[in-house]
Amino acid sequence: MANIVIIGTQWGDEGKGKVVDLLAEHADVVIRFQGGNNAGHTMVVDGEQFISHLVPSGILQGKTCVIGNGLVVDPEVLIEELDYLAENGIDVGPDKIKISEKAHVIMPYHKAVDHAREKMKGDKKIGTTGRGIGPCYEDKATRRGIRFVELTDPELFLEKLTPILDEKNFYLKNYLSADTLEQEPIIDAYTRHAERLAPHVTNVSVAVCNAAKEGGQLLFEGAQGTHLDIDHGTYPFVTSSNTVAGNACCGTGIGPTNISGVIGIVKAYTTRVGQGPFPSELFDAVGDRIQKVGAEFGATTGRRRRCGWLDTVIVRNSVRLNGLTGVAITKLDVLGGLDGLKICTGYRVSGDTMSDFPASLKVLGACEPIYETLPGWSEDISEIRSFGELPENTRNYLNRVEELLETPIDIISVGPGRDETIVLKNPFTR
Ligand code: GDP
Ligand code: IMO
Ligand code: MG
Repeated sequence: MANIVIIGTQWGDEGKGKVVDLLAEHADVVIRFQGGNNAGHTMVVDGEQFISHLVPSGILQGKTCVIGNGLVVDPEVLIEELDYLAENGIDVGPDKIKISEKAHVIMPYHKAVDHAREKMKGDKKIGTTGRGIGPCYEDKATRRGIRFVELTDPELFLEKLTPILDEKNFYLKNYLSADTLEQEPIIDAYTRHAERLAPHVTNVSVAVCNAAKEGGQLLFEGAQGTHLDIDHGTYPFVTSSNTVAGNACCGTGIGPTNISGVIGIVKAYTTRVGQGPFPSELFDAVGDRIQKVGAEFGATTGRRRRCGWLDTVIVRNSVRLNGLTGVAITKLDVLGGLDGLKICTGYRVSGDTMSDFPASLKVLGACEPIYETLPGWSEDISEIRSFGELPENTRNYLNRVEELLETPIDIISVGPGRDETIVLKNPFTR
């Protein structure tokens, strides 16, 4: 039996959705453990694309999908996703979709505060997705959040909502100069959401542990990426949850001894949406080409993703922070046709070489990437299904990346489709 965690090693959008969808074939339960609908995970099956924001990417494989306690959930978005999946003939009944009673609920005031704060910050903004993620985690930490267990109990819901809405309205009006919110429409909408979602709400820790005890294999689906982690990322240009593999335990309610492997998803180049440092960012025609060929637009907000060369300083940081047992390289096809491929192997700052990722954004801002250049390839590799058939320069590129990361490449993705993949080692059958 194997229980595997999938995480992003860069700044999100590495292709986690594709790899989770692919590996879910071998899993019984697929679990999201952090984040919310700031995530946008794309699956492409038989030429059809589905972008999931909350429902785990195992749903198209018909697996039990779990939303752990570590998430912040916008019930309206979740209901929209469930409706869409049901319309497309996918079973999303309470046996298939489970929501932790301890997951926190994103309220309209969280979204209002997120927007108003970003507006107020002007060019100092974080570039959030505007989904209310930060303000909801903030209320969780300050112990005034509303969880599903309260949402689904009308008396408790009202008891919690009234004082907090008062406070939020004061803050919205007097500090953020934003519109205030009325209580009645919130109660109406959230009562409907609660009724609709109540059958799915359960003790996820018990459900997941029982599934594992009965011999089921678990697949944990991370959202965002390691460098958006609230502790380990490029703070404050991060999201508000722990995105690293260790949080699969906290965000689900299982112990660390249950995890048998961690696969880090590595895009063959680097992208970032929103503000924040990005040492290997490209501002030239090569960056534009990668952005175009890779169709690098945010799956949640539609924003153009910033693009740059593969940075192995950040991926090595992820190897350590997540205890990676293997990596999946995605979007390798996008690099085809480029003359020379650069890989960032270290940073130079004030004449010194630095191989570890600095905590200070001031230091990071002063870092010059050190590159080595490998020859590119011109062949279309999207039809290739074995390592040996890849062009020699592609194999050399992969071998060098593996060497720099000191971690085996288990999966190579050469296109968005589920089948456009070369699996060298299936983590579930290791
Ligand atoms: P996630 O947030 O990590 O799940 O990634 P996103 O879904 O936001 O972004 C990844 C994008 O790349 C999606 O549009 C995928 O369909 C696409 N994609 C994934 N793997 C590959 C690949 O190997 N090649 C190409 N060309 N596209 C890919
Ligand atoms: P997936 O799971 C890429 C970024 C936002 C912003 C910062 C904070 O699809 O990889 P937030 O709304 O979370 O407070 O925004 O984090 N961000 C992501 N970037 N992929 C994601 O998710 C992201 N989720 C949040 O752009 O810079
Ligand atoms: Mg995404």
